Amino acid sequence: MKSTTKHWSVNILTLFPEMFPGPLNFSLVGKALKEKIWSLNLVDLRDFAENGPKSVDDKPYGGGPGMIIKSEVIDNALKKVTKKIKQYSLIYLTPKGKKINQKKIKELVKKDNLILLCGKYEGIDQRVIENWSMEELSIGDFVLSGGEIAAMSLLDSCIRLLPGVVGSSETLKHETFENNLLEYPQYTKPSNWKGRKVPEILLSGNHQKIEEWRKKKSFEITKLKRPDLFKK
Ligand code: ADE
Repeated sequence: MKSTTKHWSVNILTLFPEMFPGPLNFSLVGKALKEKIWSLNLVDLRDFAENGPKSVDDKPYGGGPGMIIKSEVIDNALKKVTKKIKQYSLIYLTPKGKKINQKKIKELVKKDNLILLCGKYEGIDQRVIENWSMEELSIGDFVLSGGEIAAMSLLDSCIRLLPGVVGSSETLKHETFENNLLEYPQYTKPSNWKGRKVPEILLSGNHQKIEEWRKKKSFEITKLKRPDLFKK
């Protein structure tokens, strides 16, 4: 572990632990995992079913399709995980949750221990959500087949903000969603590609003018594509 970085620990409760680290093993995030900037503790919910691994879920009361993960399974798993850690944020990933944004990601990065519960099938018993005062979060207004991919998305965007993961904090300052703005367009060589030229100003070497141009573009793009953000 690098001396300047704190260790960020994540516990994942899932029926599919083999899905992890999956994409989190690659790029900057994968490198940070190898460097122990963050760590992953996988908890297989099937290990906590009281009548064998096949009894993790059951039919919903009141009828309807699908199977619901039982309260006792999640409760048993959470009791074990929380025994070892004092402070944590417990998050249940669900399309019914509050939508995550970059501000929320920045808050989560400040926590030392995250517990992410990934649902599957038609959901989990409501009572365990209430009993453990879980924070319900969604990654967007669309339905995934389970919370695992949502958890990976959340983690990826948190981990890149951990100190020592992205090379320069300057990179983070200019990126999309800082100040509720989308990022300006970027270009690299060649300066003329299929007759499309890089905006002259970017070749000028005038840093002040470039900065002004980028700000202007950020405003234009945000107003056009994300009027909801622009209003803020
Ligand atoms: N599980 C299924 N869909 C989801 C979503 N959109 N966000 C978070 N968790 C989910």
